[in-house]
Amino acid sequence: MWSSFASFTVLALVSRSLAATYSLNQNYVGTDFLTAWTHEAIADPTNGRVNYVDQATATSLNLTYANGDTLIMRADDTTVLSASGPGRNSVRIRSNAEFTHHVAVFDIRHMPQGCATWPAVWETAETNWPNGGEVDILEGVNDETPDSITLHTGAGCTMPASGQTMLGALTSTDCNANDNGNAGCGVRAPSANSYGPTFNAQGGGFYAMERNSDFIKVWFWSHSDGGVPSDLSTGASSVDTDNWGTPTALFPNTDCDIDEEFSANNIIINLTLCGDWAGQAAVFNGAGCPGDCVDYVNNNPSSFSNAYWDIAAVRVYV
Ligand SMILES: *[C@@H]1O[C@H](CO)[C@@H](O)[C@H](O)[C@H]1NC(C)=O
Ligand SMILES: *[C@@H]1O[C@H](CO)[C@@H](O)[C@H](O)[C@H]1NC(C)=O
Repeated sequence: MWSSFASFTVLALVSRSLAATYSLNQNYVGTDFLTAWTHEAIADPTNGRVNYVDQATATSLNLTYANGDTLIMRADDTTVLSASGPGRNSVRIRSNAEFTHHVAVFDIRHMPQGCATWPAVWETAETNWPNGGEVDILEGVNDETPDSITLHTGAGCTMPASGQTMLGALTSTDCNANDNGNAGCGVRAPSANSYGPTFNAQGGGFYAMERNSDFIKVWFWSHSDGGVPSDLSTGASSVDTDNWGTPTALFPNTDCDIDEEFSANNIIINLTLCGDWAGQAAVFNGAGCPGDCVDYVNNNPSSFSNAYWDIAAVRVYV
């Protein structure tokens, strides 16, 4: 029989270890993306040269292909577009479920690459933007590595200018979407293999995001890295983020009430082309991409043959 002292100690240890332990809530693989997510055939809010198609269109054109442990989503790579017509067919999907405190794990074999591409894996509450918050986990433009990890919020959320224990580098501290042209508060990942062609050349990787009242963290491991936490890589029934090491990005609640700034969010995976970021002449040409972004998209379908996602799984733990 345990003494009361012993049971007290055990309880204290248990509650401490539970703090960063989460249980599998959603395991999205293959055709789950057709039944538990929605293709959003909407006008691109970022003014890209894309035409987001619905699920029936995406599957019939094979822009979305779900089978076994594979989800492929791509931009059309065969059609020359009329300058006066709609943009290039592409795909944007959103999880039907929404999440508050959670861990999301993304096992990605390939991400869209090519001039004009602006892919993103992110979370937001679309009907309450920016007051429900936005977490951009994997995002960039025109093949320019590394990954940018960014929060966009309503008023009153900033990040400390220094002191975060993280692998990435702080690029901006004001998360308020109404300031600085919606630049948000951001972190640059440290390694080239976190984004685009280098990410793909190394077999893709794992992204993971943890959100609780105290912080938002993002981790990245290339599939070619050693030391990937086994609970994360195997899709275990529970994960303990305390064992995942220093995150790539850490956004603490020091000057940002995370539970106030972030409501329940959906997960979104999108691929736009050109638009407010990728399409700016200085950004497009600065990345070594030729001419005008919209002309490039209209006239060069074959340059989008690598503009596809290949996603092995998205797992959510709560
Ligand atoms: C795509 O994702 C980014 C997230 O970083 C978001 O800001 C942008 O509005 C999205 N664009 C489209 C067209 O869905
Ligand atoms: C659809 O795309 C998948 C993945 O790229 C490919 O394996 C399959 O052959 C394609 N199907 C057709 C009918 O083209």
